[in-house]
Amino acid sequence: MDNFIDAAVEQFAHDHTEPETDLYRRLREETYRVMSSPQMQVGLIEGRFLKMLVRLIDARNILEIGMFTGYSTLMMAEALPADGRLICEIDSKAEAIARRYFAESPDRHKITIQMGPALETIKMLSGPLDLVFIDADKVNYSNYYEACFPLVRPGGLIIGDNVLWSGKVIDPKDDNDHAIVAFDRLMQSDPRVENVCLTVRDGMMLAWKRV
Ligand SMILES: C[S@@+](CC[C@H](N)C(=O)[O-])C[C@H]1O[C@@H](n2cnc3c(N)ncnc32)[C@H](O)[C@@H]1O
Repeated sequence: MDNFIDAAVEQFAHDHTEPETDLYRRLREETYRVMSSPQMQVGLIEGRFLKMLVRLIDARNILEIGMFTGYSTLMMAEALPADGRLICEIDSKAEAIARRYFAESPDRHKITIQMGPALETIKMLSGPLDLVFIDADKVNYSNYYEACFPLVRPGGLIIGDNVLWSGKVIDPKDDNDHAIVAFDRLMQSDPRVENVCLTVRDGMMLAWKRV
């Protein structure tokens, strides 16, 4: 993943953001040691931003599509009240790591893992959801958006990660590139939402469901 921000400026932003606890540091280091695509982890700035969004909209029920080893999950769980939360994942190696770190977290009781393809999980859910964070397989991003939309409460947020896809959205070539561009266009043209495309990390699209 390319970084859009000058490395020194990014470091400054990192150093002026609520820091990681030891739990996050160990989770990050283990993920980079043992997982094949560790850069999928959202990292401190995006993680803290997600936590801030959970706080700002008083979210109670969150759906995270693509948990990986659980870094973003733990960040959002910090800001949740005691109930709510569900996460979809299909990779059992990532799940095993996430479960070990969740077990150490004071927020572990807020986290429910649902293993299996996310589109199947969404079919089993009932709303209302306050926030959906889409961060799984890129070819299904638009499907996730449409599938979860009816479950999101008015005033709720749908967030897509990696929406600038290391800049490949400018000249899309493969299926993933085109899927991300299609997802960005879908949100941009959806009259049911107000949206903003942010240059945080690899790009974050925020869509607020109109009331
Ligand atoms: C970009 S990573 C998520 C990173 C995570 N948010 C973090 O900060 O650590 C994407 C994850 O989505 C999972 N995934 C891919 N396809 C999926 C599917 N169809 N259903 C559920 N999870 C899926 C992958 O196994 C991977 O762990």
